[in-house]
Amino acid sequence: MARKFFVGGNFKMNPATRAEKVKLVETLAAADLDPNVDVVIAPPALYVIPTAELLKAKGNSFVKVAAQNCYIKSSGAFTGETSPAQLADAEIPYVILGHSERRTLFHETSAFVAQKTKAAIDTGLSVILCIGETLAEREAGTTLAVVEEQLNAVVPLLSAEEWSKIVIAYEPVWAIGTGKVATAAQAQEVHAAIRNFLSKAVSPSVAENTRIIYGGSVSEKAAPELASQPDIDGFLVGGASLKPEFIAIVNVLR
Ligand code: G3P
Repeated sequence: MARKFFVGGNFKMNPATRAEKVKLVETLAAADLDPNVDVVIAPPALYVIPTAELLKAKGNSFVKVAAQNCYIKSSGAFTGETSPAQLADAEIPYVILGHSERRTLFHETSAFVAQKTKAAIDTGLSVILCIGETLAEREAGTTLAVVEEQLNAVVPLLSAEEWSKIVIAYEPVWAIGTGKVATAAQAQEVHAAIRNFLSKAVSPSVAENTRIIYGGSVSEKAAPELASQPDIDGFLVGGASLKPEFIAIVNVLR
């Protein structure tokens, strides 16, 4: 079964105003996007529901919405958090978990990210699970050990069927927001190793069917060569998802 190309736009804590957010979403809603691609945008928590409502009001059921994070509990005294159950109730189908900014700035461990992943999957959400090494880890030759540790935390918590709800985003930390995109060969090498890991740790069919997307300074210019790699099944785009360039990235296979 061919893996469907997947392009996510992670707006992070952008844009600064509602007016800009509306403009961004309206532009995307009106764009001519490749129908053979899954397109998901992740606005800040404050804008998640309004973004879904705006897409609906524009008659666009093609672009899906993701949250950028969620907690492990469904409700309760957890100030500042959003629950997976609340996202599911709001009909938000995806959540990004384990982004390197959460792991580093907000001290999320692999075990905690795995718990969140399990909670999100149990609630019926699909998860864009981010993994990736820092520059120091790459230079120390530990890239594969790092991504395997991040995935190993998740493996015991999910059944083989539940992996169909996971998209893995390989995002080398050194490439995020730096303009230093990984070369196609660098990214392909790690993607192939992740697929090999899934084959051994879960099953060959999960390895074959799981989308592994690349994130880190993806641009319109870098996208075609990256997308031509056999184990790169799409992108998680940060900065460029706030620009018209995002449309060209979605349409890279056309
Ligand atoms: O999640 C996307 C990401 O971290 C990459 O960001 O700005 O380098 O495309 P950017």
